[in-house]
Amino acid sequence: MSFIKEIQRRRTFGIISHPDAGKTTLTEKLLLFGGAIQEAGAVKSNKIKKGATSDFMEIERQRGISVATSVLAFEYDGIKINILDTPGHKDFAEDTFRTLTAVDSVIVVIDVAKGVEEQTEKLVEVCRMRNIPMIVFINKLDREGKDAFDLLDEVEQKLGLKVTPLSFPIGMGYEFKGIYNLWEKNVNLFSGDSRKDIEETTEISDLSSPELDKLVGETTADTLREEIELVEGIYPKFDKDAYLEGNLQPVFFGSALNNFGVRELLDCFVEIAPKPRPKNSEERLVKPDEKKFTGFVFKIHANMDPNHRNRLAFVKIVSGEFKRNTPYLHVRHNKKVKFSSPNAFFAEKKEIVDISYPGDIVGLQDTGTFKIGDTLTEGEVLNYKGVPSFSPEHFRYINNADPMKAKQLFKGIDQLMDEGVAQLFTLELNGRKVIGTVGALQYEVIQYRLEHEYGAKCTYENLNVHKACWVEPEDPKNEEYKEFLRVKQRFLAKDKQNQLVFLADSAFSLQMTQQKYPSIKFHFTSEYE
Ligand code: G4P
Repeated sequence: MSFIKEIQRRRTFGIISHPDAGKTTLTEKLLLFGGAIQEAGAVKSNKIKKGATSDFMEIERQRGISVATSVLAFEYDGIKINILDTPGHKDFAEDTFRTLTAVDSVIVVIDVAKGVEEQTEKLVEVCRMRNIPMIVFINKLDREGKDAFDLLDEVEQKLGLKVTPLSFPIGMGYEFKGIYNLWEKNVNLFSGDSRKDIEETTEISDLSSPELDKLVGETTADTLREEIELVEGIYPKFDKDAYLEGNLQPVFFGSALNNFGVRELLDCFVEIAPKPRPKNSEERLVKPDEKKFTGFVFKIHANMDPNHRNRLAFVKIVSGEFKRNTPYLHVRHNKKVKFSSPNAFFAEKKEIVDISYPGDIVGLQDTGTFKIGDTLTEGEVLNYKGVPSFSPEHFRYINNADPMKAKQLFKGIDQLMDEGVAQLFTLELNGRKVIGTVGALQYEVIQYRLEHEYGAKCTYENLNVHKACWVEPEDPKNEEYKEFLRVKQRFLAKDKQNQLVFLADSAFSLQMTQQKYPSIKFHFTSEYE
């Protein structure tokens, strides 16, 4: 197959949701359709079970499972689909944000009874900021849930999206009869049999046809006719370009557990979802069909087993072909590196591959040379943008608990930060080190790993910080900025890239600071336009 065809047949996406909305179940059903797995239950859930929040070893065990499920690839209808897994647990939200830099589109799963939940809001916001095309899947239609129109309203309002349903439920919960597919113009009746993987659908090209009354009963048929009329009156017609630009989000309804409405979702997905997209680097826009290979590291997975301390760096291929045993430029180190055993991912396995294409993810064995955001090329000096750090939620001083092991401690902290476990800030005033994390859990992980992997001991001390804001002065030489640096010195720190960060101790003090120094911009992410 030609290089161009290989690119065109790839779809790389992520599924995002609040925990328990049905992401794992949907992933599994998609794999079943692709024939990548034979039976339900084959994909291990890598979600972190409730109640396990203090047991981080258990979490690490599950993260171990998640290496295998980090990328799930399968073929459907000649299309190569790569699903990038995103941890639902909020303590690993940063992982998810980074993974979103490597997807070309997303599917958002929403629980019909719970509606839009907190994690969904945060994740969708990131996708919206990046204009990532999104399809919404409203799940668990076999349960009593919210009214479909109310839900669509909620999705628009809470998520700031502009939706258009491409399928619509016929009844709900106990009354759930099936789905009318506006995209294919057919009715799919619900039998509640999850083992059934091929659904029977009935073509209803005209809703006024008496066939519909026969299928679902007169009353239900009439309600459906009214509802579809309303849908067509309220919502815009589906427009593929608007979807691809991130301005319109099609919505599907179904029940992942019952494998219902999933085929419709998948069929529409392969037709409309974007092929690998061009990506901006600091230097220029790179197109996938460029001959020369480029890619970037968006995730690093460390092995917790002390006997196998290697790490796996996940690289998204942006352009060209990635070949085994070929020297590539590690741009940050300005050094050629080559890889004898790059891994590609299939369903729940990983295998060594000779060649991979744009849209694909390769896993590279790494002994500590990579950090998140690193770029690989065939020689060109390029730096991909878009693996930003977000302001952490928790902040603690980290202290060395074993003065003999200071070197090990610093090396350990350095490497863990490169993996993206947490963020390190160094206070301007006294050089003290502060660790910022998304979840409290990471402190335990860091402490444990420092001890077991680097032989270093640390303790923490609380620090009252509300948000870390990256500081952008209008003019670094103006008096206002100089005053800010002087007055706020106590609250200033440098991140690992040596960027200046203001550690605001409360929302109020941040607001006051913004008012007092209007020429300075305060950003909640490390990369801003
Ligand atoms: P997540 O990855 O988004 O966290 O969700 P997951 O797929 O694990 O689903 C969460 C729970 O919701 C699971 O039940 C799953 O079986 C159930 N579920 C998923 N889709 C549907 C659906 O369409 N209808 C109904 N009724 N339930 C659905 P659980 O009891 O928490 O786990 P399990 O013991 O079944 O694995």
